[in-house]
Amino acid sequence: MNPDQIAQEAAAAFAATNDPDALEQIKARYLGRSGQITELLKKLAGLSPEEKKSAGAAINRAKTAIEAALNARREELRRQALETKLADESLDVTLPGRGETRSGLHPVTRTLERIEALFRSIGFEVADGPEIEADFQNFTALNMPEDHPARSMHDTFFLLDENGQVAGDVLLRTHTSPIQVRYMQAHVAKYAHLPTMPEIRVIAPGRVYRVDSDATHSPMFHQVEGLWIGEDVSFADLKGVAADFLRRFFESDDLQVRFRPSFFPFTEPSAEIDVAFMSGALKGRWLEIAGCGMVHPNVLRHVGIDPEKYLGFAFGMGPDRLTMLRYGVNDLRLFFDGDLRFLRQFV
Ligand code: DAH
Repeated sequence: MNPDQIAQEAAAAFAATNDPDALEQIKARYLGRSGQITELLKKLAGLSPEEKKSAGAAINRAKTAIEAALNARREELRRQALETKLADESLDVTLPGRGETRSGLHPVTRTLERIEALFRSIGFEVADGPEIEADFQNFTALNMPEDHPARSMHDTFFLLDENGQVAGDVLLRTHTSPIQVRYMQAHVAKYAHLPTMPEIRVIAPGRVYRVDSDATHSPMFHQVEGLWIGEDVSFADLKGVAADFLRRFFESDDLQVRFRPSFFPFTEPSAEIDVAFMSGALKGRWLEIAGCGMVHPNVLRHVGIDPEKYLGFAFGMGPDRLTMLRYGVNDLRLFFDGDLRFLRQFV
């Protein structure tokens, strides 16, 4: 075979393979140590100088052509491999993401936001306070005597000091009522320069803690405190605010509201607020929603407000209970278990 024929054959063999490893083996057949071109070069030694010159040029031309064909095919195969890889890994950025979930607010948070919006609409501020509370604000200022059962170890979570002893003066707040105390103290200080203090109209939602756990009690639960103090605030105002709020909250004009006499150390007189629905599964049953009353003069004295000049009402309601009623949930613990199958229903 002459060099040109070998070069043509090599180019055809390169083109016939798609495998980079096979390509290198084919290359050895022509350019390797005993390849066809190499063998031709070895034979040059036996030729005359004239013949050597023309044959050598022909062989070199063929060798160059084979190397060029080889490199072109190598490049071609590399490009094909890259294209296949890119096609396999193709990414459609317009596809919706996998594992997409819709998030939403916790049902109790929805209730708290609804309560805040309704009270803001009638001129109440929203206040906050610490969950680790002082004995004074949680009990003493609220006219709760030393021997009040709420102060016992099995009702209240107390905290340990650095020596591992129960620190008697701090605890997890057992209700949101201490926020009343803190708010009034701050209000008094803020307006001390005025002859008459502006009205206090505030609600305070938050977490509270008690040593208590069953289907309707959780060691952590929520309360919303309410307080309206002025020169001329009556029990009739309390009844109007509470009934109006509950009817708007449950979106029910025929909701019945009743005030049942009760006792709290920090109010006098005191009452429980009950509601009854006129339709639905709970129709006609009285359900307890909140405690309330006219703020006790001793509470006002504790925060430096003159009970001869100012008076008002307070209430404390259970938003967890309101959430159960609004959504028809019968076990309080479901709200705090964190089970997504339950919580997703509110999204
Ligand atoms: N703090 C009371 C409790 O946790 C609830 C309460 C009752 C709050 C009457 C009030 C109130 O402000 O006036 O049981």
